[in-house]
Amino acid sequence: MWDRKTLLSASQFSRADVEEIISRAARFKQKTERLCNGKILANIFFEPSTRTEKSFQAAMYRLGGNVISHKDAGSSREKGETKNDTIRILSSYADIAVIRDSEEGKTQEYADIAGIPVINAGDGGNEHPSQMLLDAFTIKENVGRLDDLKVLFVGDMRHSRTIRSLIKILSKFRNNAMYGVHIGDSGISGDIEKLVKKVSPVSSLRGMIEELSPDVVYCNRIQKERLKGETASSYMIDGGVVEIMPENCILMDPLPRVGNMDPRIDSDSRAAYFKQAANGVPMRMAIIAEMLKAK
Ligand code: NCD
Repeated sequence: MWDRKTLLSASQFSRADVEEIISRAARFKQKTERLCNGKILANIFFEPSTRTEKSFQAAMYRLGGNVISHKDAGSSREKGETKNDTIRILSSYADIAVIRDSEEGKTQEYADIAGIPVINAGDGGNEHPSQMLLDAFTIKENVGRLDDLKVLFVGDMRHSRTIRSLIKILSKFRNNAMYGVHIGDSGISGDIEKLVKKVSPVSSLRGMIEELSPDVVYCNRIQKERLKGETASSYMIDGGVVEIMPENCILMDPLPRVGNMDPRIDSDSRAAYFKQAANGVPMRMAIIAEMLKAK
């Protein structure tokens, strides 16, 4: 069961935990409640962000709280201060911290240093659990269930933390069949490989869609910043690809899209990525409220 002290990984969650937080996010979507008056959230980002950082900020404001933000530029990190010291100091100014870092697997160490509830906002190519929860929320809302799904992941199956976290959580539900179309030549990462039924090269994208009739196609850009001397082929979900998706399939992407999706498909009813991004605010309200035990 999720202890609500940290949000670091999909492994902390049972399906009941996911269902419970989705219900809370759905309630916040209907009605904002200022449950965190006087509380401060520290947004500590050692890697770039638009949606994650700003939706945590908007969520805290909607809950009536305040936000302090750290980015290395203009901070004492430019004088050589360590990440650990930066986290220790900013956490002493706040009630809850959101931390994004390029290093994988250091989130527990950061949580120990912080001594306040800590949310992993992405640790390298490892995990992105708050995105995972808003992705699950979006699937539940738009497909109607989290069991009996056929999900086709399209992207950098080795380095995408959003794909990794979502595969891990969907594997805790019943009868979900997950497939991958892998972009890049570095192979799929070991820990999710066993949870995915089949991984095919990008040339089989259309064939996979036709063969599977998926409920969800989940796309993510090539994670250029994590490629170490590997090459990555480019790909594009365009009108021709969307056309062969079933009518009630949803197309998701955590964004940003960088050449991986044609903006001309935005008006297609299957395109769910802007709704998905908007769901970041109510889901992050739910996460903050749960972790601050704000009732
Ligand atoms: C994702 C991330 O940072 O992993 N973005 C996000 O949080 N919405 C996806 C990405 O950068 O490709």
